[in-house]
Amino acid sequence: MNPEQTHALGYGRVDDDPNVSVLLGTMDETGRWEATLQLRRWEQEQLRLRPGQRLLDVGCGLGDAAVALAGDLGDTGLAVGVDLSVAMVVGARSRSRVRHRSARFAVGDAHRLAAPDRCFDVVRSERTLQWVASPETAVAEMVRVLRPGGLLSLIDTDWSTFAIDVGDSSFAQRVHDAMQVERRRPSTIGSRLVDLIRDAGLLVVGQTTATQRWTSWNPDESPTPEGCFSMSSLAEDLVDVGELDKCDVDQFVSTIHTAARAGRFSMALTIFGAVAVI
Ligand SMILES: C[S@@+](CC[C@H](N)C(=O)[O-])C[C@H]1O[C@@H](n2cnc3c(N)ncnc32)[C@H](O)[C@@H]1O
Repeated sequence: MNPEQTHALGYGRVDDDPNVSVLLGTMDETGRWEATLQLRRWEQEQLRLRPGQRLLDVGCGLGDAAVALAGDLGDTGLAVGVDLSVAMVVGARSRSRVRHRSARFAVGDAHRLAAPDRCFDVVRSERTLQWVASPETAVAEMVRVLRPGGLLSLIDTDWSTFAIDVGDSSFAQRVHDAMQVERRRPSTIGSRLVDLIRDAGLLVVGQTTATQRWTSWNPDESPTPEGCFSMSSLAEDLVDVGELDKCDVDQFVSTIHTAARAGRFSMALTIFGAVAVI
């Protein structure tokens, strides 16, 4: 496997990606991010789950968040995770068996949930809307399966907040400019979660943000900063939006690697969370 090729298809089509195992491993890395842990703690406080409730996690990945929340649902409650990727669902099933929680996992598409109307008390979705073709359709489906008075929790990244510092402000500005536009997917959905929820007719009862920071990275020890894409992949994003010539990609990557080796590297990314009642 070659991490440099990771995210060619990304999390929109995990099972077709030549580096499925890298994508699965990255889920564990992003699950350890301080921002992720902070947002999941915040979400758990907001949701105040009770024994016997039913929770749905849309785009559940390896199911760790659903399994953790299932602990609040007791033996009579149920957490259901759905994900488009067979590999993710297989991984989630195997982890949940080990942890003996009331959690079930199934393959499913956020745009067409295979669940009846109004059958869940809580629906959550984390870092998935940025990968779906129509976030509005996916949210409408989540709302459809929520019972009256139920809670919707959305957590997602806004890649327009991504900042990189390698000791060169013009370099940082180019990356910033490139990240302001949505490319092949709704990569800036995080800061639009509240609008998305309100447009779906729900009342927002809580919102927050958490910023993930990388303050150092040794490219000789790890091909990517923890849980992040490779710098070649970042360069391709800049090429896509005309901020970098294809022939300058190697130079771009080596500038970052050299700065990181010299201890002049930091990055930041903000993730948004919102909870709403139907
Ligand atoms: C970045 S991962 C996040 C996984 C998990 N929610 C987490 O936070 O650890 C995005 C997940 O969304 C899933 N996904 C992408 N498109 C989807 C769709 N249309 N329906 C359901 N899941 C989808 C991917 O397979 C992947 O597991």
